[in-house]
Amino acid sequence: MANQTAKYLVTGASGQLGALAVEALLARVPAGNVVALVRRPEAAAPLEAKGIEVRIGDYTDRAALERAFNGIDRLLLISSSEIGQRAPQHINAIEAAKAAGVGFIAYTSILHADTSPLMLAEEHRVTEDAIRASGIPYALLRNGWYTENKTGSVAAAIEHGAYIGAAGEGRISSATRRDYAEAAVAVLTADETAGNAVHELAGDESYSMAEFAAEIARAAGKPVAYRDMSQAEHAAALEAAGLPGPFAAILADSDAGTAKGALEDDSRTLSALIGRPTTPWRETVAEAVRAAV
Ligand SMILES: NC(=O)c1ccc[n+]([C@@H]2O[C@H](COP(=O)([O-])OP(=O)(O)OC[C@H]3O[C@@H](n4cnc5c(N)ncnc54)[C@H](OP(=O)(O)O)[C@@H]3O)[C@@H](O)[C@H]2O)c1
Repeated sequence: MANQTAKYLVTGASGQLGALAVEALLARVPAGNVVALVRRPEAAAPLEAKGIEVRIGDYTDRAALERAFNGIDRLLLISSSEIGQRAPQHINAIEAAKAAGVGFIAYTSILHADTSPLMLAEEHRVTEDAIRASGIPYALLRNGWYTENKTGSVAAAIEHGAYIGAAGEGRISSATRRDYAEAAVAVLTADETAGNAVHELAGDESYSMAEFAAEIARAAGKPVAYRDMSQAEHAAALEAAGLPGPFAAILADSDAGTAKGALEDDSRTLSALIGRPTTPWRETVAEAVRAAV
């Protein structure tokens, strides 16, 4: 049974994970107990239409965050999408939460943040350290890969007959954003905080990229094979396809980390938290193929 009396705030509520978290929260607690934080005033209307209060604050504006967190008991801090600027932004949010007297922070980190070789993990490690140092009770939601990260390239893979990457035979235990959003809300609304917690969250099943490409081929009825390449070749191919260089480098680094097992986890902590199996990756592939053909 969710804590019905606490006041909850979800940051990044205009984003994909944030919107799903708000939806999951509204299934558990009254709308009057839910507050959404967005940075763009124009993003408020669809959230207000759900009957919830919307507050405005950018992660770069500590004073605005402190005002936004006033009266909030439990905060879901969704990590910023501004890679490279996230550590100071998240520190602003944590300091603001401390000053506003927030009683609990759940933060969306990255799988195995303490040991992850991924470049992306560094900002999460800094944030986790800041949360620990703040003295605010916390839960670290160490989210694995979204299956949607991989299905985003389904149309291109069908078109070219190839899914490119540098993940080698590394296995990926991904889950959908909805799975992670439900887990975040389960943790956020838990009646009792059994002390500070670290949750390694990932899909029940794992796959290699060769298996993933074969599944696209099966669902589409067209040949699609996984084409593995070096990290440098992968970065260059992504840049040639139009991605900004620094982002291409991060994606290629994530694939190289995948080859080392960085995105694999068989703990099944996620399905235990949400009380159902995680969404099968084949189902997400099938949906993406239907949308692509
Ligand atoms: N586990 C994974 O596979 C994976 C994949 C991608 C991302 N992530 C991480 O998980 C987070 C949530 O994922 P998502 O798919 O929901 O991403 P998303 O759709 O891009 O949403 C990001 C959210 O962060 C907000 N935001 C960005 N910069 C901000 C700032 N300076 N101040 C306040 N809010 C700011 C965005 O606001 P606007 O709507 O105004 O832009 C948006 O609401 C991402 O931000 C990223 O840190 C994880």
